[in-house]
Amino acid sequence: MGLVTGACFAHLGHDVKCIDTDTEKIKRLNEGECPIYEEGLNELLKSEHLGFSTDLEQAVKDSEIIFICVGTPEKEDGSADLRYVFDVCKSVAGYLKDGQTIVIKSTLPVTAVPKIKELLDESGAKYNLVSNPEFLAQGTAVKDFLEPDRVVIGSNTEDGLNQVAKLYENVDAPIVKTNIESAIIAKYAANAFLATKVSFINSIASLCEEVGANVNDVAIGMGHDKRIGNRFLKAGIGYGGSCFPKDTKALVKMGDEVGVSFDILKAVDSINTRQREIVLEKLKNYLNDFDGKTICMLGLAFKPGTDDMRDAPSLYLAKELLDSNSSLQVFDPIVKSVKGFDESKLVIKDEAYQAAKGADAIVLVTEHPEFADLDFGKIKGLVRGNVIIDGRNFLDAKKLKDYGFDYEGIGI
Ligand code: UDX
Repeated sequence: MGLVTGACFAHLGHDVKCIDTDTEKIKRLNEGECPIYEEGLNELLKSEHLGFSTDLEQAVKDSEIIFICVGTPEKEDGSADLRYVFDVCKSVAGYLKDGQTIVIKSTLPVTAVPKIKELLDESGAKYNLVSNPEFLAQGTAVKDFLEPDRVVIGSNTEDGLNQVAKLYENVDAPIVKTNIESAIIAKYAANAFLATKVSFINSIASLCEEVGANVNDVAIGMGHDKRIGNRFLKAGIGYGGSCFPKDTKALVKMGDEVGVSFDILKAVDSINTRQREIVLEKLKNYLNDFDGKTICMLGLAFKPGTDDMRDAPSLYLAKELLDSNSSLQVFDPIVKSVKGFDESKLVIKDEAYQAAKGADAIVLVTEHPEFADLDFGKIKGLVRGNVIIDGRNFLDAKKLKDYGFDYEGIGI
């Protein structure tokens, strides 16, 4: 998020210095290497307005506006881990001057704001504090930044609001100006609402299976209603990634702290967990037992267009399958390694056909577009079993059945 934000602001003509404590990452960036896979980012890193350094002191002294983009990972109790934000505030406070603006881009709860102020107040400077939450989705982050649906800016000072709004003057989007608290909640609420849409359609999918309906058609029937919209109504193995799972839980936690019970989000979360189990159960129905079986897994990333594996449903499936003594042959066009698994049991292949060779079943976890072009006739000749569980309702069911596969999607 930090790199995309910095690169996009530089692309808009602002002078940007990106700071990280990770010397290796900064070295790679200075050598022109992009440390993450993100469509369109490589090009923007060449901007003459963009620099990378580990020298926080110099960067703070030289800047009018300082963006905090560090991670706020999920703690075991579901709350956001704020230590990186607080650490960076402490460091920034050492060099802060009157008139500078600190912008929080990291997703953090409203209750963190007084502590942030306290840390920054140590500087004795008269600064502006602003919240400018990010709405970037991975895989489309650059486009989302440069062509956003809206920009939300929250501050308790006019100066802070205007300074940050000016950064976006060449971006064609409505600017929503509000206070810090509302800006923060707007971000959490947007993610939680989208996650709710996904869990809602997944519940409908379960119903569809019982009554002979097709959730894909139901989603189309719903989505044409402009009040509903057709996006985020794809049923399947459920949501993953660095935001939805974490932000829904953090919002529940935030509610708990002030006596508001977020029952709807608790349900959203448990439905999402259930979707992963459903895929595993479908597989088991065909194989009876996983012991000694070889499963071909198509896709690893939590969604197409990214190499991000955070909270990817594939990790749950891989763990359960390996624990049940099966082995996995995996192909993902972007992800080429996974941490935390025995490489002799979870074998990453160079192409889908190799992953399918000798497999007792195929499970599709990520709807990478290239999977639609696979020659399933050829795959039929390579596999040992007949089963394809499509965790994203992505493949052409009719074609696969014609090839002789036992095909099963989610709610179709
Ligand atoms: C999300 C928000 O979209 C973005 O605005 C925010 O800034 C960060 O979190 P991201 O996590 O990158 O972005 O991915 P997104 O495209 O929103 O998908 C999240 C998860 O939901 C993925 O695992 C995806 O597979 C799943 N999903 C999405 C569905 O299962 N069905 C859908 O219909 C849509």
